[in-house]
Amino acid sequence: MARRKQVYEGKAKILFEGPESGTLIQYFKDDATAFNNKKHAVITGKGVLNNRISEYLMLKLQDVGIPTHFVRRLNMREQLIREVEIIPIEVVIRNIAAGSMSKRLGIEEGTMLPRSIVEYYLKSDELGDPMITEEHITAFGWASYQEIDEIMSMALRVNDFLSGLFLGVGLKLVDFKLEFGRLWEDEDMRIILADEISPDNCRLWDVKTNERLDKDRFRQDLGKVEEGYQEIARRLGILPEAGPRDMRGPETIQ
Ligand code: TMP
Repeated sequence: MARRKQVYEGKAKILFEGPESGTLIQYFKDDATAFNNKKHAVITGKGVLNNRISEYLMLKLQDVGIPTHFVRRLNMREQLIREVEIIPIEVVIRNIAAGSMSKRLGIEEGTMLPRSIVEYYLKSDELGDPMITEEHITAFGWASYQEIDEIMSMALRVNDFLSGLFLGVGLKLVDFKLEFGRLWEDEDMRIILADEISPDNCRLWDVKTNERLDKDRFRQDLGKVEEGYQEIARRLGILPEAGPRDMRGPETIQ
């Protein structure tokens, strides 16, 4: 394969220069980290599953009018994306108490929240992604008031759509993290969904048993991490069981 220029390496992905200007290639690694890099492992096959799951979800979101950076999947581990200026904020949307919210506020994991709650964290490994408010975001110029409004409303639309999609295959979307970027077209700028949507950045529980099928299996040493990710892909109908031609549609759970 021809050598490509690497433009960025994160904990779970690498970005390479794309074939034309304004594009990048997003490569999904098998590496997993948790607790801001304190815990690290290689989960064989994770990158392939996340590439496929993120493609599927981004395309579904595009179908309902949410603009995303996704262009097309290139191969098992890579997808072509549009180059954006990443807004340095992790947007977390929560439907059910879990993880850091349960810990911080003393709410039992699994408690249904009175309404969906959106939180912001500064994307900074050095600082351990501290929680921030709209006040910090606008005062320090990480995003404008108008951009924050747009991000918040897009995040809630994504949440509504994905909650329904996952419920249809027997999964509760407990919480998830999104990232957004600025895309310039001539003089115009718009905000689009970037990064990935996969079990690395979503909590997904089985509707009937509350079994965790996402990265919490790794964070909490529950074992069978890849199997959890595979189960999510299988339910979405995108896990090729007998090779790449064996792609079924989603399985509906009554
Ligand atoms: P939290 O409960 O640990 O704050 O996580 C909330 C959601 O955000 C959960 O679905 C996992 C996701 N997340 C990331 O994608 N990246 C991160 O660095 C963290 C802390 C959480």
